Amino acid sequence: MKIRALEPYEVSFHRELRIRILNDSPDSFGETAAQAEARPLSYWEDLTRSVTEPNRHVMFVAFEGNAIVGTTYGILDNERSDVGRVGGMWVAPSQRRRGVGRSLLAAVLVWARKRGLKRVGLWAPASAPAAVALYSREGFKNTGRQRPLPTNANLRISEMEIEL
Ligand SMILES: CC(C)(COP(=O)(O)OP(=O)(O)OC[C@H]1O[C@@H](n2cnc3c(N)ncnc32)[C@H](O)[C@@H]1OP(=O)(O)O)[C@@H](O)C(=O)NCCC(=O)NCCS
Repeated sequence: MKIRALEPYEVSFHRELRIRILNDSPDSFGETAAQAEARPLSYWEDLTRSVTEPNRHVMFVAFEGNAIVGTTYGILDNERSDVGRVGGMWVAPSQRRRGVGRSLLAAVLVWARKRGLKRVGLWAPASAPAAVALYSREGFKNTGRQRPLPTNANLRISEMEIEL
């Protein structure tokens, strides 16, 4: 398995992967596949720039050969220069429990440390034991804050964070 950062020219790849993960795991993310599909090309161009330009956010993609096996974002906080966030963490169902999620999380934490971040947070679906277990195992702690999942008010997401 190899992990690499998204490249600036991969706008369509980015869009298709995002729609794929939203279709696969609708209760894990804050937007629906239909919302993502309806967004204009300019949205995907801007988003791709935001994760590929130097000193901005980052997107990692894990491959087994040519097959995508997982992805995640590392996101910089708009207001606090020493804080980041993990977002869009997803591993292909057939590849789960093989350490892909842990490797993607490690890539974000290496990126965060290089950026000099002091803290990394995330919002995990409270009803997704796999996600909560992955983050807990790497040292993330619950902050105690919860909120409804934006796309399904019956589900809750819990904030977790780690000090670097
Ligand atoms: C959460 C997710 C990314 C985990 O990816 P993964 O590649 O299967 O995780 P790993 O194999 O790296 O697991 C690392 C550790 O996390 C924990 N873990 C992972 N999946 C688990 C599960 N289903 N049940 C319990 N613990 C689990 C274990 O401690 C595991 O270590 P172990 O296998 O040595 O016991 C994956 O299940 C997924 O894509 N889920 C759907 C989308 C999602 O919920 N994303 C998170 C949004 S915040």
